[in-house]
Amino acid sequence: MSLNVVILAAGQGKRMRSDLPKVLHPIAGKPLLGRVIDTARELNPARICVVYGHGGEQVRSAMDAPDLGWAKQEPQLGTGHAVLQAMPGFAVSPEPTLVLYGDVPLTRASTLARLIDAAGNDKLALLTARLPNPHGYGRIVRVDGKVVRIVEEKDADDAERAITEINTGILVAPGEALARWLPQLGNRNAQGEYYLTDIVQMAVTEGMEIVTAHPDATWETDGVNSKSQLAALERVHQRNVAETLMEAGVMLADPARIDVRGELICGRDVSIDVNCVFEGRVVLEDGVRIKANCVLEDAVVGAGSVVGPFARLRPGTVLGKDVHIGNFVEVKNSQIADHSKANHLAYVGDATVGSRVNIGAGTITCNYDGANKFRTVIEDDAFIGSDTQLVAPVTVGRGATLGAGTTLTKDAPPDTLTVSRAKQVSIAGWKRPAKNANPEKKV
Ligand code: UD1
Ligand code: CA
Repeated sequence: MSLNVVILAAGQGKRMRSDLPKVLHPIAGKPLLGRVIDTARELNPARICVVYGHGGEQVRSAMDAPDLGWAKQEPQLGTGHAVLQAMPGFAVSPEPTLVLYGDVPLTRASTLARLIDAAGNDKLALLTARLPNPHGYGRIVRVDGKVVRIVEEKDADDAERAITEINTGILVAPGEALARWLPQLGNRNAQGEYYLTDIVQMAVTEGMEIVTAHPDATWETDGVNSKSQLAALERVHQRNVAETLMEAGVMLADPARIDVRGELICGRDVSIDVNCVFEGRVVLEDGVRIKANCVLEDAVVGAGSVVGPFARLRPGTVLGKDVHIGNFVEVKNSQIADHSKANHLAYVGDATVGSRVNIGAGTITCNYDGANKFRTVIEDDAFIGSDTQLVAPVTVGRGATLGAGTTLTKDAPPDTLTVSRAKQVSIAGWKRPAKNANPEKKV
């Protein structure tokens, strides 16, 4: 069955109090609208049209993709008027049209699939929910169990306001019926808007069947109007990600204290302590332990490796098996092979590190000369003494040892001690300067 999707994203979002358009605000690093578009894509629709508004060029340029159509709505005269703007792009297509909101980011594709199934090709299907506090929502008015109309809060009488079944706003309607109904909408209501919800009465008049489906959880249809609501849905999303990880066997010290802003792929028996942030695509192989307060971005951690506490793995980090990255160690665009260790206070950038290498505390790869980046190569079994600077491009040979404090500017030969350090002297009889009793008078 073919499907069209219209995503409403023209609303201003004043309550965000931001220069960034509301639908570009992120949840787990991805814009709200991007989440809605991706959910729509999961349904394999024939077309997706985003209705954007005043100042929405920023939205369009941020989100544009070959599979998206765009319709501008200016001024914004209501949800019915908004959907109407998308119709020319669809011509008069018989397939069902799904209406989504660009600021409702966490709807599950499975919920939408149920709604689409319920609609078939010839029914109007509404996604509705029962809320203990339905204030502010459109209410679903039923007679003998059948939906007869939706009444907005501001237009409702006391009896209607007591109804707890609400309109989530998400619906599916046959395309040709929508194209017929939308131009007939009026705006004689409390808000002077063209309400999409008035199509319900038109369907009733035509004798079209109206069906409903329901989300599994209320957060699936929660929208974002403020920073507070954005933060609340961020927590819901992170909790969902944490649940999925735990179901897959990952041990989380506290599912409320992990942030995944991308894709986290874990092997068996991975454990993650509190306050870790994962960005981009991160792979943790079997038995990896991530200790508290680590930030990992686009990194691969090999089996049995231990990272942290307080470590940062930046893009392009690939750790082999049983690698130890300790506190205050930053690794960027580097491969570190099996059984190597950098346990304290180090910067390893643009480096290729072999197996069983020990990188001492305070080691720094000087990979940048202010204009260009250079690589450091450290071969197997090398021992890098503490407080060493490796001025790239430079190679430390297999089995080489660098003495503590070395500033390495030339390659270090294999199986050799290389040390660059001022000779230590001890001066006998040297006296510390004493404070002058009367500093004005120099003698
Ligand atoms: C709408 C529904 C209401 C439902 C509620 C759920 C109507 C008339 N009412 O309320 O029954 O309970 O959603 O949240 O449909 N938008 C546009 N252009 C416009 C107006 C709105 O693109 O001219 C977009 C907004 O950006 C938003 C969505 O449509 O994403 C809903 O708009 P909003 O004002 O939040 O909803 P209401 O109209 O109050
Ligand atoms: Ca409104």
